[in-house]
Amino acid sequence: MAVETLPHPYPLGSRLNGSGSLEVGGCDVMELAREFGTPAYVYAEEDLRGRARAFVEAFRARTERFEVVYASKAFPCTAVHRIFAEEGLSCDVASGGELYLALRGGYPPERIYMHGNNKAEAELREAVEAGVGHIVVDSFDEIERLRLIAPGQRVLLRVTPGITPSTHSYISTGQADSKFGFGLDDVPRAVEAIAAAGLELRGFHAHIGSQIFDLAPFERLAEVLNGLGGYPLLNLGGGLGIAYTSDEQPPSIEDFVDTLVSGLPDGVTVLCEPGRALVGNAGLTLYTVGTVKEIPGVRTYVSVDGGMSDNLRPMLYGARYEAQIANRFGGDSICTLAGMHCESGDVLIHEATLDDPRPGDVLVVPATGAYGHAMANNYNGVRRPPVIFCSGGDARVVVRRETYEDLVLRDA
Ligand code: LLP
Repeated sequence: MAVETLPHPYPLGSRLNGSGSLEVGGCDVMELAREFGTPAYVYAEEDLRGRARAFVEAFRARTERFEVVYASKAFPCTAVHRIFAEEGLSCDVASGGELYLALRGGYPPERIYMHGNNKAEAELREAVEAGVGHIVVDSFDEIERLRLIAPGQRVLLRVTPGITPSTHSYISTGQADSKFGFGLDDVPRAVEAIAAAGLELRGFHAHIGSQIFDLAPFERLAEVLNGLGGYPLLNLGGGLGIAYTSDEQPPSIEDFVDTLVSGLPDGVTVLCEPGRALVGNAGLTLYTVGTVKEIPGVRTYVSVDGGMSDNLRPMLYGARYEAQIANRFGGDSICTLAGMHCESGDVLIHEATLDDPRPGDVLVVPATGAYGHAMANNYNGVRRPPVIFCSGGDARVVVRRETYEDLVLRDA
């Protein structure tokens, strides 16, 4: 692989150094593997900041009225919250836990948006007590709950606009048959119910799905939300896709923002809620190869020291990734990259192309920055990996590796 093609799914600023090793944020990942062990999530801070700024600058060039709301479910981590809060982003939380993290991360509470199709009464109270700016109401039951808990609360109304982008059905949320939000037919009744409950309706929200490459559905979405009436805020959700592999070409942040802004009239504050597009390519996972099992005429299994506990996406969505040996990019050995869990389905990559992998090799899987750490689990008693931030040649652990002790911490 040519050095100049590197950043595509890799963090911005990554390169192959003189000894042929991948460098992220100025740190040689071979050294990171030695120092911090594997598996490990490694992020380039510059990439996180760079993409946050790209969103903000793309909006600022087009309108004064906007908010970039980080969908924190993609990577709910105090260190990333601190960076995004510093960069002036707002934050979307989908539970009391995400709210707790966002508040610790330093966003002003009024820049927090609380989502969820079934927020518990306790979570709503936590949000109100924290002074959360907007609660995104999702159901008639919730309007009734808020009437009792939080008269006067500012809210957005979540609609399912009947738009189905082309993506995996599990991460498609805009269609009418959805557990989220209000169908368009119910909007007038919901608007009345909000007024009757003494809540302040500030506008509408929709999230049509995730990992979307085609911008046309967002144009349509802007039209639909705009048609709902004159409210100050319109939040068009997240969903901008990223490159998981070098052959994928997602739209640019500029083009995405341009689509949102040009679909809406002046005077409206435009919000979007990127998760994956802010953090996905900033992070990658380091693994060590433990065993190489060749079944002649069938396939070669290359097994690594992680798998479905640190990246559920291949199993859950059939998500495709690519891998490289961290200090020997390229090669032409086709193999199946398997995890270490007790399930045959624990395969990270069905057809990885590597340079003659051997036990002890450090592997890198790019584009694991979103929904990797977020959906990590302890299956098979596996300790969740650390999160390491790299910048200017310095590496710091922002989340430590779990210990065996951690596995019994909650025992009563
Ligand atoms: N806003 C709302 C209300 C959402 O529900 C989501 C994602 C986002 C924003 C951010 O979407 P993004 O920009 O990251 O596409 N675990 C799945 C993704 C589930 C997304 C759920 N909601 C995955 O690994 O692909």
